Amino acid sequence: MTRWDERIAADLAAIETAGRWRSTRTFDAFGQVGELEEETVVSFGGNDYLGLSQHPAVIDAAVAAAHRWGTGSTAARLLVGTRPVHHDLEEALAAWKGTEAAVLFSTGFQANLGVLGALGTAGTTILSDELNHASIIDGCRLAAAATRVFGHGDLNHLDALLAQTPGPAIVVTDTVFSMDGDIADVGGFASVCARHGALLLLDEAHAVLGPDVDPDDIECDLVRVGTLSKTLGALGGFVAGSRDVVDLLVNRSRPFIFTTASTPPDAAAALAALGVLRSPEGDRLVERLRAAVYRLRSGHPSPIVPVVIGAEEDAMAAAAALLGRGLYVPAVRPPTVAAGSSRLRIALSAAHTDDQIDQLVVALRELALS
Ligand SMILES: Cc1ncc(COP(=O)(O)O)c(C=O)c1O
Repeated sequence: MTRWDERIAADLAAIETAGRWRSTRTFDAFGQVGELEEETVVSFGGNDYLGLSQHPAVIDAAVAAAHRWGTGSTAARLLVGTRPVHHDLEEALAAWKGTEAAVLFSTGFQANLGVLGALGTAGTTILSDELNHASIIDGCRLAAAATRVFGHGDLNHLDALLAQTPGPAIVVTDTVFSMDGDIADVGGFASVCARHGALLLLDEAHAVLGPDVDPDDIECDLVRVGTLSKTLGALGGFVAGSRDVVDLLVNRSRPFIFTTASTPPDAAAALAALGVLRSPEGDRLVERLRAAVYRLRSGHPSPIVPVVIGAEEDAMAAAAALLGRGLYVPAVRPPTVAAGSSRLRIALSAAHTDDQIDQLVVALRELALS
């Protein structure tokens, strides 16, 4: 008979022996500065790219929604109905993305599982970039479709694989890669997809500085995935596309049908954040973020700035050295990134001050990390 306690203890011991032990740390903060295990630090770990999770109008919207509709949605929307704020947010997201419709999921992770499962039916092939986010990888695993992986951003490889693919095909890529901060050639992907009649599925979770996508310029079928949890400062995900794609998701997508809807405060916060983002204030915040990124790495296309170090223990030591200077930058190691490419992942925000960024620049230089 299996002794589960022994089995679990052995699994934990193996993780520890491999030097890959992970645990969460309490970060008591409002925004970038807070107490990490009793030390005051500036965090470069979050994805609150425009600082909207702390914006007064966003906070007020979340509080008002809690008073009006309560803190939770209480059930899946097909069971309990849609709160008006869910509907309003979906309309606003569709308008922002230039699509006919959009549908909310409880997280961005679920949005990827949901859309890949619903579109990736038996007989379909999903072609996925080798550096796509874990939620896309898991979506491919859950879908009945076959999956083929193409080299990172390699349009020739993709083209060759599509040429060998019989039947319907979905090409899926992050537009900003979450551990490298590099961006996809969206126009190039669209051309290859158009040539082969493939549907292009873009995950734009981190696309605050671009690449901008105008559906009118895209020659192939297009579906767009996004999250409320990063630039929009709340929690949730969405899929934007044609009315038919959205109807199909509502009817078939298990992560939509069988999960409680995102909370009214989250939906209201995201709606308010989207209002800020699409206003002149939002333009200023985006330009402020771009300037923050360029202060650290001139010309870099996204707020995710990696410092690739190599060995896991060296990356951990670098993160510890920065923490010693009051700068919290997470080290990312396998299996999140490939062995030998452990790194620091710096995430910048418009809410970081120039001083905070300069402290980081100096520390990286003094520790010979830049
Ligand atoms: C590219 C990408 N897609 C999807 C997600 C999942 O989004 P969420 O955090 O809203 O679940 C992430 C989150 O890290 C991501 O980086």
